[in-house]
Amino acid sequence: MGSVGAVFVLLSLALLSVLGVPPIGTQPEQVHISYPGFPGSMEITWTTFNETDESTVEYGLWGGRVFELTAKGNTTLFVDGGSEGRHMYIHRVTLTNLRPASAYVYHCGSEAGWSDVFAFTALNESCGWSPRFAIYGDMGNENPQSLARLQKETQVGMYDAILHVGDFAYDLHEDNGRIGDEFMRQIQSIAAYVPYMTCPGNHESAYNFSNYKNRFSMPGRTEGLWYSWNVGSAHIISISTEIYFFLDYGLDLIFKQYEWLKKDLEEANRPENRAERPWIITMGHRPMYCSNNDKDDCTQFQSYVCTALLSVCLLTGVDLELWAHEHTYERLWPVYGYKVFNGSMDQPYVNPRAPVHIITGSAGCREKHDPFVPNPRDWSAFRSTDYGYTRMQVYNTTHLYLEQVSDDQYGKVIDSIWVVKEKHGFSAWFSST
Ligand SMILES: *[C@@H]1O[C@H](CO)[C@@H](O)[C@H](O)[C@H]1NC(C)=O
Ligand SMILES: *[C@@H]1O[C@H](CO)[C@@H](O)[C@H](O)[C@H]1NC(C)=O
Ligand SMILES: *[C@@H]1O[C@H](CO)[C@@H](O)[C@H](O)[C@H]1NC(C)=O
Ligand SMILES: *[C@@H]1O[C@H](CO)[C@@H](O)[C@H](O)[C@H]1NC(C)=O
Ligand SMILES: *[C@@H]1O[C@H](CO)[C@@H](O)[C@H](O)[C@H]1NC(C)=O
Ligand SMILES: *[C@@H]1O[C@H](CO)[C@@H](O)[C@H](O)[C@H]1NC(C)=O
Ligand SMILES: [Fe+2]
Repeated sequence: MGSVGAVFVLLSLALLSVLGVPPIGTQPEQVHISYPGFPGSMEITWTTFNETDESTVEYGLWGGRVFELTAKGNTTLFVDGGSEGRHMYIHRVTLTNLRPASAYVYHCGSEAGWSDVFAFTALNESCGWSPRFAIYGDMGNENPQSLARLQKETQVGMYDAILHVGDFAYDLHEDNGRIGDEFMRQIQSIAAYVPYMTCPGNHESAYNFSNYKNRFSMPGRTEGLWYSWNVGSAHIISISTEIYFFLDYGLDLIFKQYEWLKKDLEEANRPENRAERPWIITMGHRPMYCSNNDKDDCTQFQSYVCTALLSVCLLTGVDLELWAHEHTYERLWPVYGYKVFNGSMDQPYVNPRAPVHIITGSAGCREKHDPFVPNPRDWSAFRSTDYGYTRMQVYNTTHLYLEQVSDDQYGKVIDSIWVVKEKHGFSAWFSST
């Protein structure tokens, strides 16, 4: 380099030290994984702020030769709807032919920058497997109180998948999407290691849910709005309750989702499918019922969500319905249309005669807690305003376990139930007392 060049470099460095060094826009960040819904697969998603020539995942079996396998995928340009119109490149790579229940090590990126090294375990595809979940909604970038505990528990291998039941970051689109970036960096410590499965909440509504649709990668071709997947003896359905509230984005979505849901439920409920995966579990952001002291839909008699979904869930014998939105935990007795249908007085969840509902929206966010009404209706079984999250294990075709962790009480389990069903489907509602 000649002296003129050297002077130029020095000048440039001086200028940079004044202006601040620009970040390397091709460096991968916000790495997270999700299950694409077919055996032996896992999808890796990440962000760069500049375009890269390719989107590559290098991976290999844990303990095997490092990065001996390579998979390539696609990039989409996501332009945030805010005034700055920020550009983000979302990279998606689907890994296939993974060996079930085996651990893999991976990194992602391109020749212009690689991520840290992460690991995940491919799902065990057996119907006899007993997957373990952490479930919560309403976790923000500010005051995400449960996050540290979830990070540690995920990294020590307590969960096979995470279900985040809507409301992220508060909000993904804020500060021209920078809050979304921060949030996706925060959850990388969980979401880069186990499938992070989502549904949209009201906080994702900006610009027609575009931050949600672009940042996550869920099964199906519905931009993560509604989809289903199988794991162990469970069929898990994720829906958008938000289509009933943001009608400006399209009334047709209500009919499209309903038609899809009805078909999906009928398929899952076919005798041969139900025999293999008898637990039908739904997740959606806004609950059908709740006993919170606010004006939300679930506090109303005949809520929109109830009106829309009640009968189809009953007719196909949905076993368990997971909700969030209220920043509390509430467990309901088996309930249908405001009436309690316990299995029996002594063992309400043994052969329950209506779906079981759990509301778990207390992971922690800047809006803090929601209060309860002092005297709940008779379908309310247990309530807590502690920050925390739910654990679930689908043991086998007859037994499913749920427990609630209080982060305020340093991880104490404050509630737990076994749901036991010798029979699933519509006829199960009439089978016992
Ligand atoms: C990287 O992205 C930024 C922001 O979009 C843009 O200003 C810059 O020109 C890009 N750099 C390259 C080398 O493409
Ligand atoms: C990438 O795009 C191609 C062509 O559209 C498609 O076939 C492929 O499935 C995509 N891959 C991923 C990982 O989405
Ligand atoms: C998957 O789970 C089943 C049922 O628990 C078990 O028998 C099987 O060994 C597991 N598969 C692997 C590869 O670990
Ligand atoms: C909002 O998004 C949905 C799903 O992508 C789309 O079908 C609908 O047309 C969009 N609505 C508007 C008003 O752009
Ligand atoms: C349901 O079972 C619980 C627990 O035994 C009991 O407290 C409640 O009264 C029962 N509700 C009805 C309507 O039977
Ligand atoms: C299912 O798991 C429960 C709890 O471990 C056990 O008591 C029950 O016998 C199992 N049932 C079947 C059908 O394997
Ligand atoms: Fe919400």
